[in-house]
Amino acid sequence: MKIQNLLVTGGCGFIGSNFIHYIFRQPDFEGRIINIDALTYAGNPFNVATVKDAYGERYHFRRIDICDFPSLESVFADFEIDAVCHFAAESHVDRSIKRPDAFVNTNIIGTFNLLECARSKGEEFLLFHHISTDEVYGSLGPDGAFTEETPYRPNSPYSASKASSDHLVRSYNRTFGLPTTLSNCSNNYGPYQFPEKLIPLMILNALEYQSLPVYGDGKNVRDWLYVEDHCEAILTIMKQGRRGETYNVGGATELENIAIVENICDLVDEYAGRRAGKAARRHLITYVADRPGHDRRYAIDFSKLTTELDWIPRETFSSGLRKTVSWYLEHRNWVADVRTKDYQRWIEQQYGRMP
Ligand code: NAD
Ligand code: TYD
Repeated sequence: MKIQNLLVTGGCGFIGSNFIHYIFRQPDFEGRIINIDALTYAGNPFNVATVKDAYGERYHFRRIDICDFPSLESVFADFEIDAVCHFAAESHVDRSIKRPDAFVNTNIIGTFNLLECARSKGEEFLLFHHISTDEVYGSLGPDGAFTEETPYRPNSPYSASKASSDHLVRSYNRTFGLPTTLSNCSNNYGPYQFPEKLIPLMILNALEYQSLPVYGDGKNVRDWLYVEDHCEAILTIMKQGRRGETYNVGGATELENIAIVENICDLVDEYAGRRAGKAARRHLITYVADRPGHDRRYAIDFSKLTTELDWIPRETFSSGLRKTVSWYLEHRNWVADVRTKDYQRWIEQQYGRMP
């Protein structure tokens, strides 16, 4: 790849940090990564703690909010940014129901700011890759799958804000000729995912014999992709994807939530063993009130990515879930850190308060 100075936004979050580890392992990537992240509750500098030692001057981190346009302009100038891989977002649907404002600011205004900075670079700018979600397409009935032609019908403030950012990206390609690619991916799982999303939350609650809150009847369906497969798909699209195009990314693994939670209970029983006097962890499953506007089913047709760019997911759900459960059991300090308020205080001491 010709890219020399790749700006990764949200590189301390779940997928962004996995991507930074992944791209530095690729022998044909010789450029620098400039990671900007506001370090919200979901951003954790420890996710990339080893990267500076391993890659030295090829890695830089700045604590920046993508809503802060002057700071973004400085980073684009100082590091001569020639490409962007944009992960930074507010990403949790339940939070978007409680406090949609941060979603509108970060996901829409933040993306707009990045697009403007990229546009101002003119001809020297090589690529803006935007990471999005299959949730922009809305909810499916029992049959069918989202294709790249499916009309957008977002149902949550999260998916609406992502849909809006996708449209902005598309418009900057069509109107200004900005070289863009866009990927809409299904649910990811794997190491470094903040324990508010279904899989890590259930692993940790199961481990601690806390109740496992399953929304509604537990029969909502998601398609699941191991995070490293997503990273490979992103890099493939960045390298070979047609500019101005959208690619769906999926795991060909449609599962009801309840099946996943049961699977996790069994794995945690197997790995951690049962406490004396405790029943199998499946007994912790508790059906709770449904999420408002809860999309029933997502399924993704990623045949365009397979046909055009020869990408398929490598990990099976069974092996990926085993790896993930093991990772959370082996990284209890990471879990303890991201759950404490002390940790946010530590970030402020290290990086200062955000304006
Ligand atoms: P995450 O919540 O784990 O990480 C988001 C990161 O963005 C955090 O490090 C956070 O500090 C940072 N951030 C938030 N607001 C910011 C701001 N204003 N300025 C700078 N940084 C900010 O999210 P994730 O799961 O890694 O998702 C990454 C991207 O992938 C998002 O755009 C999301 O919409 C998309 N996506 C996620 C999934 C999934 O299953 N997790 C699936 C498809 C697409
Ligand atoms: P989540 O991980 O929040 O991802 P998304 O809403 O972006 O798909 O949720 C995945 C599914 O799991 C979704 O159908 C909601 C459900 N869910 C629960 O049943 N209980 C929970 O505690 C959480 C967090 C999610």
